[in-house]
This record gives sequence, structure tokens and C-alpha cells, in this order.
Amino acid sequence: MFLSLASAALLGAAQVRATFIPTVSGTPQLIGNVSDPTIDRDSCCSARFGSRELWTCRDSQPYANGVPTLPIYSSSASWTEFSSDGTPLIQSWTDAAGNTETGLLCSGDNYEEPFFPILADECDTNTAGACSDNTRYVIWPNSPPLVTSEDATTGIIEAFTWITEAHITDEFVTLVADPAATLYQITYDPSVNGDSTGLPNVTTVQENFWTTDQMPYGTYGGVVVDDVAYLYGQNAAGTVALAQVAVGSVTDKSAYQYYVNGEWTSTIPGVNDTDIAIANAGAGGQGTFYYSSVWGLYVWIGQAGISIAPDFYITTAASPEGPWTEPTNFYSAEYVTESYTLQAHPGLLANASENAIYLTYTVNLAGEYYTPLIYVQWES
Ligand SMILES: *[C@@H]1O[C@H](CO)[C@@H](O)[C@H](O)[C@H]1NC(C)=O
Ligand SMILES: *[C@@H]1O[C@H](CO)[C@@H](O)[C@H](O)[C@H]1NC(C)=O
Ligand SMILES: *[C@@H]1O[C@H](CO)[C@@H](O)[C@H](O)[C@H]1NC(C)=O
Ligand SMILES: *[C@@H]1O[C@H](CO)[C@@H](O)[C@H](O)[C@H]1NC(C)=O
Repeated sequence: MFLSLASAALLGAAQVRATFIPTVSGTPQLIGNVSDPTIDRDSCCSARFGSRELWTCRDSQPYANGVPTLPIYSSSASWTEFSSDGTPLIQSWTDAAGNTETGLLCSGDNYEEPFFPILADECDTNTAGACSDNTRYVIWPNSPPLVTSEDATTGIIEAFTWITEAHITDEFVTLVADPAATLYQITYDPSVNGDSTGLPNVTTVQENFWTTDQMPYGTYGGVVVDDVAYLYGQNAAGTVALAQVAVGSVTDKSAYQYYVNGEWTSTIPGVNDTDIAIANAGAGGQGTFYYSSVWGLYVWIGQAGISIAPDFYITTAASPEGPWTEPTNFYSAEYVTESYTLQAHPGLLANASENAIYLTYTVNLAGEYYTPLIYVQWES
């Protein structure tokens, strides 16, 4: 009797685990903005780099006399700091318009150059990737740098970002449905660029690392667990697929495996193959994958497929291949105007046992952007 009750309870717990949908504790707090008051910039993501957080953003512009001016450069990066208690350092500063702003103050010299280089065949004669026929190559980072190694002695950090070679018209029409993707490597050496102004180096590992007939694995997000990088790609039709590679072999395409028809294979599938889809790995829009040690689960937080509302969805899974729970809307920020690039920032947490998450999104207010930062605590 006792035994069967115990096993029923265990089975119950296992079933709950497989479909874990977290509950928000209390009211999420708006902490402020994430901002460099000298740069107007769009769509930031972040990852923990040693004692600081590294942010990578899309289109960035300097401010002059309180308004964004030229040049547009297609990506930029920044540091934010932490307090001695391990929480993100909240500061106040004067913004470009002369108002007091509060939140995470960004630093780092971008020299008005793209953090992720625009390549020779991507209209690289200017920092925006603008072509003479009014089209544009938008080399926009859409997921956080994926940190693959940190040397405990030197503090040297290696990270990677895959970016689609998106070619668009001046009306934001995509010229190639499923663009190829470039792999970039980010290297940070605290002894070289460890002060507040020095940013990590970026090198181009390979243009067309993924070709137009392959999934752009890594561009939809990724997570590293036990020295394996799990990389999600999404095609134009909205299908999400998964690849894996050992963290030491990220630049070696022959070392990758792909999740196809419920199994790992070394044969790369086609971008539109039907047996590569991972249901519910994301709600369709931009977001962040991470691993929660508190829950022992893989997590995705982000936006629904076609939405400009700051409605945050979450889905969880016991393994990167799923099954993922059906995404649920756990928090909606106040809608001011067009909001997108909903992101989670596990790197801002003080430690692996903090049962909470930081969120950001981008608000596009008449061509000027700002990035609200929110703190959400979960029920234990
Ligand atoms: C964040 O930025 C917006 C737009 O500039 C501004 O209205 C708001 O007051 C800022 N929030 C804080 C907490 O500084
Ligand atoms: C970054 O590149 C510069 C110039 O090539 C070099 O001096 C510096 O050592 C590099 N830093 C790192 C961390 O690789
Ligand atoms: C994949 O499907 C898209 C439509 O979603 C299509 O435009 C593209 O040509 C297809 N790619 C291949 C390689 O078949
Ligand atoms: C983790 O961070 C939280 C939030 O700052 C703090 O309350 C907690 O004491 C920390 N736990 C450990 C084990 O350091």
C-alpha cells in the first residue's frame, strides 16, 4: 500500500516535470533601461563574460544634439557591470535628450564600426551594409553570444554568433527567403581588453557556414550544457530545428550532428525537410534559450510569431530535443508602441540558484529605441 502510493507520487512528479510551466511570484519589477546614452540602438541580447555582461545589438547610431545621427552601423557591443552582491549594477545618468535615466549603464568603444564585420560581398563600403540599388545586407545579431569556453586562469573567453546574411529591400522585403549564415567568433582577453572601454575581438570564421539550402543553426538561439552546444535554427516557414556539436569543434562543420526524425545524424538535412521540426521550441518570434539549474530544465523565453506586443512566452523541456511544453504567456509589459526582440538574460542572475530571470525588449518610439529591463521571480 505504502509502496504503491510512493510510486504513484513519483510517477506524478515525473509527469508534472515533463510539462513544467513555471508560475510568476509577485509582480515583475521594471528596473529601468539598458542604455549607452551616446548610442541609439536597436535589439540587444546579452551573455555573461566573466565579471561583466556583454551586450550585442543591431543597428546603432551616435547621438548629436539629442537626436540620432549618421552613421548607422549594423551592430554594436557593450559591457554592463555588477554590484559587489552579484546583482546587476543599477545606475542613473543623463540621457541624450537631457533627462535622468535609470538602469544598466553600458560602456565600450565601438568607434562607429559594426561589431560583426560586414563582408566584401555584403555592400561593405559603408557601416550599414547599404547597397547602391537601395537594398541592404542587414548583418544583425538575433541571439546572444554563445559562450563555449572560459579559461579559469587567464579569464580568456571564447564565444560564437551565427548571423544570417539577410538581404532586404528598402521596404523590408526579404530577397532570399532562407539566407545563408556567417559564423563569427568573439574572443575576450581581460589582460588585453579588460577595461571598461575595450570590447572583445570579432573574427569571421566562415561566410556561408550554413548555405541557403540548410537551416541557419544557431541564429534562433543556442545553449551550452556539459560542453555540448545545442543550436537552434528557424527557416522562413517558421520551422525550428536543432544541431549539436562539442564546444571545442564549433568551427568544424564536419563535427556537427542534426536532430532528424527523432534521432541524431551526421547527414545535414535540407532547410525545408519536414522531419526536422521540433514542436514548441520557441513561440515563433525572437527569444532566448538557456538552461535553468534551479528547474533542471531547458528554457526558451520570447515573443509569439507575428507580434509587436511585449507579451513574454515561456516553454520548457527536460532535454534540448524536447518535448517542449506549449508556450504560455507568463508576463505582458505595458504596451507603449512597437515592441520586439524579447530576450531573457540568465547571465544577469547572481548565481545558479536564484529562481528568477531578467527580461528585456526593444521599444521603437518613432525611430528612437529604448530597452526596458524587468526582473521576474518564480514560485519555488
Ligand atoms: C527609459 O527610456 C524611456 C525612453 O527614453 C524613458 O521614457 C523612460 O523614462 C526611461 N526609463 C527610466 C527608468 O529611466
Ligand atoms: C584584438 O585585436 C587587436 C588588433 O588586432 C590585438 O591587438 C589584440 O591583442 C586582440 N585582442 C584579443 C583579446 O584577441
Ligand atoms: C524553402 O522554402 C522557402 C519557402 O518557405 C522557399 O522560398 C525556399 O526556396 C525553399 N528552399 C529550398 C532549398 O527548397
Ligand atoms: C544567490 O543570489 C541571490 C540573489 O542575489 C541571493 O539571495 C542568494 O543568497 C544567493 N545564493 C547563493 C548560494 O549564493
